[in-house]
Order: sequence, then structure tokens, then C-alpha cells
Amino acid sequence: DLYRPERQNSAGSDLSDPLTVGRLMADVAGAMAHERLAVPLIDGKELEGAMRLVIDPSDSRRLVGRVFEAGEAAAERALSVVAAAAPGWDRTDVAERAAMLERAAELYQAHTAELLALCIREAGKTIPDALAEVRESVDFLRYYAARAKADFASEGLDLPGPTGEINRLRLRGRGVFVCISPWNFPLAIFTGQVAAALAAGNAVIAKPAPQTPLIAALAVRLLHEAGIGGDVLALLPGGGDLGARLVSDARIAGVAFTGSNETAWAIQKRLADRHGPIVPLIAETGGLNAMIVDSSALAEQVTRDALVSAFSCAGQRCSALRLLFLQDDIADRVLTMLAGAMRELAVGDPALPSSDIGPVIDQEALSRLERHALRMAREGRLLSETRLPGDLADGFFFAPRLVEISDPRRLDGEVFGPILHVVRYPASGLADVLSWLSTCGYGLTLGIHSRIEATVRFIVDRARVGNVYVNRGMIGAVVGSQPFGGEGLSGTGPKSGGPRTLYRFATERAVSVNI
Ligand code: NAD
Ligand code: ALA
Repeated sequence: DLYRPERQNSAGSDLSDPLTVGRLMADVAGAMAHERLAVPLIDGKELEGAMRLVIDPSDSRRLVGRVFEAGEAAAERALSVVAAAAPGWDRTDVAERAAMLERAAELYQAHTAELLALCIREAGKTIPDALAEVRESVDFLRYYAARAKADFASEGLDLPGPTGEINRLRLRGRGVFVCISPWNFPLAIFTGQVAAALAAGNAVIAKPAPQTPLIAALAVRLLHEAGIGGDVLALLPGGGDLGARLVSDARIAGVAFTGSNETAWAIQKRLADRHGPIVPLIAETGGLNAMIVDSSALAEQVTRDALVSAFSCAGQRCSALRLLFLQDDIADRVLTMLAGAMRELAVGDPALPSSDIGPVIDQEALSRLERHALRMAREGRLLSETRLPGDLADGFFFAPRLVEISDPRRLDGEVFGPILHVVRYPASGLADVLSWLSTCGYGLTLGIHSRIEATVRFIVDRARVGNVYVNRGMIGAVVGSQPFGGEGLSGTGPKSGGPRTLYRFATERAVSVNI
């Protein structure tokens, strides 16, 4: 079956079993004991760079590792080495490329404890969020391997040749793909971009976010160990200037970017200004995601789904719920339950199984959220705030908040953290909610809670968003089942983890042979 290539997503862990949790904690604690290192890595050789310390967002006194950030010399070297390796990688049999990605998936699984330790200490993820991240990365590797085998066979598609000629359409790699990833899924998005580009026959320069280079360095080590050449996949740790340098180069054939809208616009401009081949930009960006709840919804279910969608990963998911639209008749009931549930949330060290919410990524993110919360305290009504234990002062912790506002237009962009905004609407007001949705510009995720089929259909038919979730939470898209990605301000597509993802990383070549 074309859309169900033979493969399975990875299995989860039973976190209600104390034995499982105990074993996991012991393995992760062992992996945390080592200081980590990330260096520019090109053709299997480590290059020098400017050293920076990587600290734990849950306790800024704790060192996680060191990064040596790539400068101009490393960027230049990576571009020439990877450009030279690209044609050979594209000619490598697709089954061989896929086998390397499948082997990498096994290696990721074998190194789960180390990967979890870095998700927790470098990115501040709680244990369940870190486990989900490692699983998603493994799933991306296997899924793109399977899709490549299904779509990239060397003989290509056999097309009609009415005059007797042979017509074939083949998918080929484009050349050098620059993969630029964010810190909020430092393993899953990093791996997803790199695996898709490699599977489609491209050589890759990977530039992870400056906040999370260590887990990217481990991922690249495992990909190399799986057989992918050091000249086919280079790692360049560094910040925005490095990213800008790479996307300005005429040798690149494509950019896969996930991050903020501001950076996507900056990259688009760089690509437009450079003289060289015209190349695709795959950009997955922010969201101002809503959940619409009408009076037929189940209040308990709404509470659970809103809580998880707004606050897991400390709200640092592009898919996270930001605006909860509650129909008047059900609003008080849901808000009472939500406020009660928020009192039970535990903010704390993400390495502890008792913690529901970890830190935000850094001081800048914390200050931005504090400024927004102050504005909301003036312009809206604070309905609930989770207690912040006093012993977290050395980490970047921000207490989840629930704020009622009168008008969604009070939000002028994505708020990247655990603040949930609520807007009430009258029974006759659904059209206004949809009109705001269509004018806000973003189009990533949308939740709907309603038992009225006609209402659900009405909203689904009109909402211009990439992922709609009905009567469930709206985060955690599953590779191969819920291809993920937005429209408008939220991104260009193709969706990640979907049957057509690899096409955008590839180019089509038609070969006609007169016999
Ligand atoms: P960011 O835009 O600040 O950085 C993302 C990456 O771009 C980093 O590697 C950064 O170094 C690099 N970069 C910065 N300036 C650059 C430039 N001028 N040229 C080239 N590269 C540059 O984003 P972030 O803070 O790391 O991530 C959070 C954002 O990512 C949020 O807006 C979130 O919604 C978004 N996000 C979107 C998705 C999605 O699939 N739609 C998924 C995860 C995160
Ligand atoms: N793919 C991630 C999610 O669905 C961002 O939450």
C-alpha cells in the first residue's frame, strides 16, 4: 500500500509502572554524569571554533557541556566538502540510503538514555516529553527510509509513450540541503529534517539551534556510525549569523528551516538576494492556535485536553493551544475545572518523574513571558496561576497561567510559553470566531470540541489550518498518521512525517528514450 509502507512506529513506555520508571531514571542518571561536547564536524574531522558553555535551563549553575561554534572557515569547508559529496550520495542506491537510516533508528534506540538525558538537561524536557521526542525521532528515520524506498526507485515512474518511446519520471536529490532547526524539538525536528533530506538523495549541512547543540552532536555521531559519510552529513553548531551565511551561499540547493516567522522572512530575503540557482525554502514556523468549544462538549474532556495542549513542554510547542474559545453556556464549568487542575500541576526539575512542567529555555524566553503576563494582567483577567516552588530560583521557570481576554485581537503574535488565553463567545458568535481565525494569518493547529457533527463539519470546511483535532488534544502529531505542518504565516509545507514530504526535498527528472 502506497501510504502505509511496511513499518511500525516505536513503542512507548508504561510510566505508571514504578519498575519501568526506576530503571529509566537509573539509566538516565548514569548518562547525565558525563559532560558533553559539540564541535564542527566535516568529513569526519573535528574543526576548531569559539567555545561557549551550555547550561541547564532548570538550574543555570549546572554545566551540561561545551560547544565550539563554527566560524567562516568551517562554513566554507563544509560547503565545499558537502557539495563535492552530493552527486555520489544521490547516485547511491536508495535501498542502501534507507538501510543506513534504519540502522540509525536502531542506534538511537540503543542510546535512548543518553538522548533522554540531553533532552532533559539541555532542553528542559520532562521525562514523558523527552521520551516522546526520542520516539518521534526514531519514527522519522524509519518512515522516511520507507517512503524513499517506495518513491525513489532508480527506474522511476513508467509514463505513457504513445509514439513508442520510453518515458520515465525519476525523483532525484537536489544537492546540498541546509537544515536549520529550533531548540524546542532539538532531536525530533533536527532528525526529521536531516533524515528527509538524506533519504531524498541530498547531502546535508545541519545547523542546530545555539541553545541545543549537544544533542544534535550526538545525533550526528549516531548517523555517521550508521554508515552515512562524514562528507555527506556535516554538523555546524552556531547561531543566526552562521545560518544566514549558509543560506546566502550559491552552492546550496535547498533550505529546510523550522523556527520563528522573523527568521523565516530573513532567510527568504537572503535567498532572494543571492545570485545562484533558485532553490526551495521549506519553512515551518509559529502558530496562534485555537480550540473552539461549544456547549455540547464534555467539560471534563475539554479540561484534560486543554491542559495538556497548552502546558506540556511548558507551552513551548509550535502546536500548543494559545486561545481557548468557550461558548458562554459551558465556559464557567470548564474554567472552574481548569483552574482546579492547574492548582495540581507540579512545576519542577524535569528530571523528576513528579514534575509536570519544566523550565522555559532561557532568560530571554522567561523575560518575554513575564512582560506578556504583566500586559495581560492589565488588559485581561488572571483566572489561575500554578504555584511556583521557591527552590527554583536558579532555573528559568515560569508558572502556567490562565487569562481571560475580551477580544482575541489583543494577541498580536505567538506567545511561546505556558500562558493560556480564554475568550468567551455567545451561541450566535461562531462566525466571529471563524472570522478571527481566518484573519489572524496563522494556520497551524486547531482543536474543536463539539458533539454536533454539523458544527464540526462547518468549522473543518472553513478553517485554514494545517492540523485539525476533533474532541481530543491538539499536540503530538504521530509520524505517518498525522502529517504535521501549517499554512499561511505558519509555514510553506510539505508537512513533516507525511507521504509527500520527500517530494519537496527532491527534484523530478523526466527521461524520454526513443527506441
Ligand atoms: P528561531 O527562529 O529563533 O531559530 C531557529 C533556527 O534559526 C536556529 O537554529 C537559529 O540559529 C536559526 N537562525 C536565526 N536567525 C537566522 C538567520 N537570520 N538565518 C538563518 N538561520 C537563522 O526559532 P527558535 O526560537 O529556535 O524556535 C521557536 C520557534 O520555532 C517558535 O516560533 C515555534 O513556533 C517555531 N516552531 C515551529 C514548528 C513547526 O513545525 N511549525 C516546530 C517547532 C518550532
Ligand atoms: N509535531 C509537534 C506536535 O504535533 C510539534 O506537537
